[in-house]
This record gives sequence, C-alpha cells and structure tokens, in this order.
Amino acid sequence: MTEPALDSLDSPDAETLRSRALTTLTTARERTTLLTTCVDEPDLTAQHSPLMSPLVWDLAHIGNQEELWLLRAVAGRDPMRPEIDGLYDAFEHPRAERPKLPLLPPAEARTYAAEVRGRVTDVLESADFHGTRLTEAAFAFGMIAQHEQQHDETMLITHQLRKGPPALTAPDPEPAPLFTGPAEVLVPGGPFTMGASAEPWALDNERPAHRREVEPFFIDTTPVTNGAYQAFIEDGGYEEQRWWTRDGWAHIRRNSIHAPLFWRRDAGSWLRRRFGVTEVVPRDEPVLHVCWYEADAYARWAGRRLPTETEWEKAARFDPATGGSTRYPWGDSDPAPEHANLGQRHLRPAPAGSYPSGESPLGVRQLIGDVWEWTASDFLPYPGFQAFPYKEYSEVFFGPEYKVLRGGSFAVDQVACRGTFRNWDHPIRRQIFSGFRTARSGAA
Ligand code: AVJ
Ligand code: FE
Repeated sequence: MTEPALDSLDSPDAETLRSRALTTLTTARERTTLLTTCVDEPDLTAQHSPLMSPLVWDLAHIGNQEELWLLRAVAGRDPMRPEIDGLYDAFEHPRAERPKLPLLPPAEARTYAAEVRGRVTDVLESADFHGTRLTEAAFAFGMIAQHEQQHDETMLITHQLRKGPPALTAPDPEPAPLFTGPAEVLVPGGPFTMGASAEPWALDNERPAHRREVEPFFIDTTPVTNGAYQAFIEDGGYEEQRWWTRDGWAHIRRNSIHAPLFWRRDAGSWLRRRFGVTEVVPRDEPVLHVCWYEADAYARWAGRRLPTETEWEKAARFDPATGGSTRYPWGDSDPAPEHANLGQRHLRPAPAGSYPSGESPLGVRQLIGDVWEWTASDFLPYPGFQAFPYKEYSEVFFGPEYKVLRGGSFAVDQVACRGTFRNWDHPIRRQIFSGFRTARSGAA
C-alpha cells in the first residue's frame, strides 16, 4: 500500500487528513500482521533475547497505546480492559521480565488489537482535526502510526535475534554500480535551521526549529562499509586501547567483543547471520550491528570522528542554493523507492553509493534509510523543548546515557523517518540496525 503525501505543508482538508491517517495506520498494521504471523505460537511467546520483549508483548502493547491515545485521550472512551494496562506499560516492567507476566495469549492479543483498530476507524470517520493539539492535523493518529512502526522495527530486531530457520524473506536491493564519487564532501560553515516547525507529525523531541551556527566540516559521502570496517579489525583495531574511549575499552574487554554482532570468522573470511541465513559479509554494504563505542573507535582509527547530530542534520537538510532546510536530502517530497531503502522492502542495507536520486545537494548519499547512523551527540532537548503529549516518549531519556542515531534503517517506515527524526540508544547497543559515517573538521 502506498502512503499518502505528507508533503503538502499547507493545511490539508479533513478528508485528506482522514485518508492519510487511515492509510498510515493500515500500512503499519499490515506490517505488524506479517511480523506476528510468520512464526508459530511458541515463537510469539518466547523470549528470543533478554534485550527484547516476546513478540506477543509488542503486539498487545501496540493495541494498548492505540487505545490509550486514540480511544481514551482523543475520543473520551472508557478503558476496554483496564486490568491489562499495567502489563503493557513499558515503564512498569523491564523487557527481561515480560515473558513471566500473565500476557494475553497470541489469539487474544490479536483480537484486542483488532477491536481497538475497529473502534479507531469509527472515531476517524467523524474526527475533527482542529481544536486540540492532539487532534490538530491528525497528530495523534500520526503519532500512533509511528509508534506501531517503531515497534515493528523492534519486532524485526527480535526476528534477527531469533535462532532457527528463516521466517521472513524479501528481495535484495537492486545491484548498484560501484560508487566512484568522492569519499567525502565539504559542508560549508554558517547558520543552519535545525529541527521541525511545519512538519505536522514531527514528534516532541524534534521541536522547536532553531538556528545553529555550524563550523565547516567534511562528511563521508556514504556510510562506512563492511570492507572498510574489516580493515580496522585486521589492523588490530579491537586490540589497541588508544582507539577507544575508557568506557568503550572496558566494555569490549569485559564482553570479549572483537567484531560486529552476528559476525563470525571462518577459515579466513567473515561470515554473518542475517535473519536465519549465514552468508559471507558483503564488502560494499554499510556496516551493521555496531555499537557507538565501535563506531567511535573506528572513526578515531581512521583519523576522523563521528559527526555531531547538528552536522548530520545539516548534511541531510541544508540547501546551499536557498540557505534553507529541506525535509529530506533530496528535497521536500515524500520518500519514494528510488530515494531510499526504507520500510522493510529489503532485509538488508543497499551497497554504499546506492540511491543517487536520494542524494543531498552537496552529494551525500544514503542519509535516509539503510542503517541508523550513530552521531557523536548525547540525546538532549532542543532549546525551548516541551514534552508532548507525554514525558515518557522523550523527556525521561534526555541525558548522557543515550547517544543519538539519525537517518533510519531499511527497517523503519517512512512515517517514522525524516530529516529531523531523532532516535537514541545506549552506547553499548548493537542489536539495532546501526551503522555510521565519519566526519572531520574542515577549513573555513
Ligand atoms: C525511539 C526507538 C528509542 O523503542 O524505545 C516505542 C520508540 N517509544 N514506544 C523505543 C518507542 C515508545 C523508542 N525509540
Ligand atoms: Fe511503545
């Protein structure tokens, strides 16, 4: 199902908002259904990693958040099953504990989520998209579609961690001609408008838009590849303390980390496990499943550094022709398949240098899609930040414990990915679809 345009930043009429909300919610549910029907019941209720919830928790949590925001908050309905709210409150139970909870069994979780959706469809029929901040421009509906897609990416991570034969398949990206452009480009210094203002479904942490002065810097044209990362490994990168921060070194020593997650050395070549298949690590593909410490160490070894979050966003949104900021590297139009590898169309990143139509005016490629990109920055509020509509989405995570990732992976849907979108995680995490590119400070 193709998604409706989000690019008319003028105020769309109620019918447009209604169909946009319905289509994005439907797209999300089709993906949720795929991810929760491609394995059997024991696989839905099992915990495949202590880092993850059982898939059946995500499924009912998706329904519960939708009920909380679209039926109770927007439509003023009474709780459907108040006794289950606590089970699906992410803050009441850490992921590792969730398999022991009296969770709804798969069939009941499915029915619950479907019943919520049926009622939401009715609410949407007569929804008024003016009046409250929650309903303005159908924000709450967009927020819930993004929430479901974020959990779909989480469930795809669970699938990647799951042992056993493959449950999912998807075509590979089109083979791309080997990228022969420059390795890095100069992003000029000067002011840049960061963050979202007009974007109707931007989340609280993307706001408000504000000016920032940026010093000139160089940034990699493509994400760092497996081949480049292997050179770091082969040069003894994991054995030399000088490339690592103190915490990073302690972490990789304590946990005997010598390569990206899911990699294994076999008779002189690197193999990886990807959604149940073992294969030779492809050299020209962006490196995946590295933690922030690994990305940071690689960059130092290469004589470079990670870009700050501001630098990343300027590389992605700054249009030197106008001095303004666009929604995406390629401009203001919604993502199309030729722009970026998004939405689980493929189960892997595309080779570095793919998607020439998606490049920024300065020539930076694959900023959107393929791999989430670690940045140097802690997850902090923008000046003037206001939590909306709940503190537990962003505000409780602000601080030095989390690093920002940008740009989205092959596993994120376009509704939850844009030039201003911010993701965050602990610097040790690497089960996520994370890679990076590097930068260096440039001459004025
Ligand atoms: C923004 C991806 C860090 O999965 O923890 C889902 C998104 N928030 N439900 C997460 C989220 C509430 C969040 N991340
Ligand atoms: Fe959630």
